[in-house]
Formats: sequence, C-alpha cells, structure tokens
Amino acid sequence: MRVLGLESSCDETAAAIVEDAPSGELVVRADVVASQHEVHEIYGGVVPELASRAHLVNVVPVLRGALERAGASLDDLDGVAVTCGPGLIGALLVALQTAKSLAWVRGLPLVGVHHLEGHLSAVYLEPDPPPLPHLALIVSGGHTSLVRVDGHGDVHELGATRDDAAGEAFDKGAKLLGLGYPGGAAIDKLAAQGDPRAVSFPRAMTGKDTGDDFSFSGLKTALLHHVRAHGVPDDQPLADLCASYQAAIVESLVRKTRRAARREGLDHVQVCGGVAANSGLRASLRAAGAEDGFQVHIPSPARCTDNAAMIAAAGWYRLARGERAGLELNARATMPLPRRGAA
Ligand code: KG4
Ligand code: ZN
Repeated sequence: MRVLGLESSCDETAAAIVEDAPSGELVVRADVVASQHEVHEIYGGVVPELASRAHLVNVVPVLRGALERAGASLDDLDGVAVTCGPGLIGALLVALQTAKSLAWVRGLPLVGVHHLEGHLSAVYLEPDPPPLPHLALIVSGGHTSLVRVDGHGDVHELGATRDDAAGEAFDKGAKLLGLGYPGGAAIDKLAAQGDPRAVSFPRAMTGKDTGDDFSFSGLKTALLHHVRAHGVPDDQPLADLCASYQAAIVESLVRKTRRAARREGLDHVQVCGGVAANSGLRASLRAAGAEDGFQVHIPSPARCTDNAAMIAAAGWYRLARGERAGLELNARATMPLPRRGAA
C-alpha cells in the first residue's frame, strides 16, 4: 500500500510517499519539506496568516516534488493521510483541503492524523524502532508530552507542559539572547562550549505531586531577569549562559522521563520532535538509560522536525486497519491526546 502524507500544521509544508516493503517494513519513497523559517524570522516567531499564505504557495510544488522523487503518479497512490490537528487552523486547512480534493477526485481512501501521532511514528521509518509498548518523550516547538505507546494509534498522555513547550523555551531564550529564530540549534551549539554550572537557573515541577508534567515559563522569566541585570554577554560568558539555560531544560525533561520509565516498567524510550535534535538532551538521556537500563531511540534529525513521512507512516497504519475519514473531516487547532485515567 502506497500512502501519500501531507502536513502543514505550522511553518513547514510537506509531502511524502511511504509504502510497505515485502518484509513488512515501511519504506520512504519521497520526503519533501518546504520550510518557511525565513518568512517568520524577522518576527521572532511564526505569524499564522503568513504561514497560511506560504503553505498555499508551496503545497502543489511540494506534492509534485514528492511524486517526481518517488517516480510515481497520482494513479499509483492507494491512500492519502493528512495532519488534521493540532496546529494553526489556517495553516492546517491548506494540506487538509488538498488531501480531501485528491481523495475525492481520485476516489482514494483518506485518513486524518494527529500531528503528535505523526511525530511518534517517525521512529518506525528508522532502522532500529522501539518495540511496543514503549515510553515516548515528544519535545517540539509547540508540544512537550510524555506518552505511553501501547500500539500504533494507541497512545495515552501521562504528562505535558503546563505552559511553554521545551522548544518554545529554547526559542524564547534564543530571542532574548539575540540568537535568531528558531534558536534551539544556536543555543545547543553555544552550550557545547560552555559551563552548565556557571549560572543557576530554576528547575520547576520537581515535586511528586506534579506527576509527569513540565513547566518552562519560569525558566524563561529567570533568563529575562538575568539579562536585565547583567546584559547579554559575548564569547565564553555567552556560551556559559547558554549551557546553563539548556541544562535546566534538559534536566527537567530527563528527570521526568526516567521517573516515568521506571514507574511504567518500560525499557525502551523514544524521543521525537524538533528538540530531540538537541545534543545535550540526547547525551543526558542516553546516560540516564545506561544507568537505569532503558534503551533510547531517536529518529534522524530530519525526521525529528516536521515532515510528511511521519504523517504518511501514521496514516499507513490507520488505513491498514481499515480506517476511513469522510469528506467532512475537519481541522482542529487544539486536539488533546487521550490522557491516561481520563474517561
Ligand atoms: O518539531 P518541530 O519542527 O516543530 C513543531 O512541531 O513545533 O520543532 C521545532 C523546535 C523549535 O523550537 C527549535 O528551536 C527546536 O525544535 N530545535 C532545537 C534544536 N533543533 C531544533 N532545540 C534545541 N536544540 C536543537 N538542536
Ligand atoms: Zn511538530
């Protein structure tokens, strides 16, 4: 079964084609992403209306590019999967309408995919996917969640951020330090040369009563106060500041992840979303895994950030189970994952 995936929930317009090999593994035949970072860079964050317009410009070329790269035509497709939420509503509608039009005109089965289920599925396109069940830490610009994955599409959220996402903490921190947008990678690079103990930043939500939840807005405020009091440093002190700020984010993520893995009795942990590219997080989680006895699985960097191969993969499993969406499928800006214990 050859599935086209389409994604436009934030500032990436993406199309991909995924199919199953005779061995049963999913294979990516094409994976095209048009990023709009330069559209939003001067604003220091994504401007929703500009994102919608850029998606409109990019969606057909990206779709064409994916078909060309796969050496396929629309006749070769067996289904269409599209992100239906959560995300920016105007942005989501672009891929959604494209997918619905294709499904209608070509008579193709259609499924809607939760963006985070997409992120969770990227790892199945990698050589060493985790077995089921496993624990997943989703860390992106818009989301920070700890999730128990019991099956494809069978996921329950154990905890999430109560305010800013981890990527947002990186991006807002980078903006304060004049490091551009999105700034996670810039902080990561500088942090590698710095001393994480140079500046003391708060670690929020450390108590047992905070469960598996996170909070990063206090950290951002602490950095703001630090910059107001001392200014933005250069050279080594800037690297030290980045290393200290990054360490506070990473430590919170790792502490909650290892605690949940132990409690749930899960010995495989996957990390996905853009922040999974962070070298401090990767190293620290791997060290925690070696100590506690869990194995860490992280998709390649291009599959950690938004892409459509992950949406096609998640959609592939749903289509294979016989799931079909009607043309009334709609986009939703908020779309909470099922919470464990909730009715
Ligand atoms: O998953 P993604 O592409 O988009 C969302 O769905 O949000 O994640 C983007 C986020 C941005 O906040 C970006 O700063 C962050 O991932 N990011 C990083 C690194 N590379 C990307 N954060 C920390 N360290 C990195 N190396
Ligand atoms: Zn994402």
